[in-house]
Amino acid sequence: MNAFKVTGLAAAGLLLATVAAMAATPPALYTQTQASAGATVFAQSCAMCHGADLKGVAGPALIGPTFAAPGNKYTVGSVFTEISQQMPVSAPGSLSHDEYADVMSYIMSKNGYPAGTTALDYTTSLTSTVPFVTQVK
Ligand code: HEC
Repeated sequence: MNAFKVTGLAAAGLLLATVAAMAATPPALYTQTQASAGATVFAQSCAMCHGADLKGVAGPALIGPTFAAPGNKYTVGSVFTEISQQMPVSAPGSLSHDEYADVMSYIMSKNGYPAGTTALDYTTSLTSTVPFVTQVK
């Protein structure tokens, strides 16, 4: 193999790595205010089963690949629907729409999704097809 081919392959590899990194950067779907409020909701209504560190106790982990690995094919809609319709297991649907949007924002923040300027909306998030893939190893 000549030097040109090797350089070309290395460049192609670098380009692929760059494209992969860009594709992996998750979108900003909530505000920092929501995530901060969601931390309180989580502590009060979720942590007793999912753990203060989100790593799971009686309920499963809500952080990292055991929760939202790429192969799980989770979407923002599927996760948010589960949270808002099934959680807390002890009292499904008992929180306000704002509290559900806030706690979802908190869980997204913990899984490496960045905060932005547009708030996470309760109704549209139920059917969101945006992939939910944790950025936490
Ligand atoms: C009484 C215990 C309990 C509480 C409180 C609770 N959960 Fe759960 N949660 C569970 C259990 C058990 C499961 C797994 C079975 C299921 O999905 O119903 C679960 C599943 C989940 C899942 C799906 C996880 C996956 O791997 O797909 C999410 C997301 C979730 N809970 C979020 C929350 C949030 C957010 C709250 C607080 C608003 C909460 N839970 C409160 C027990 C609880």
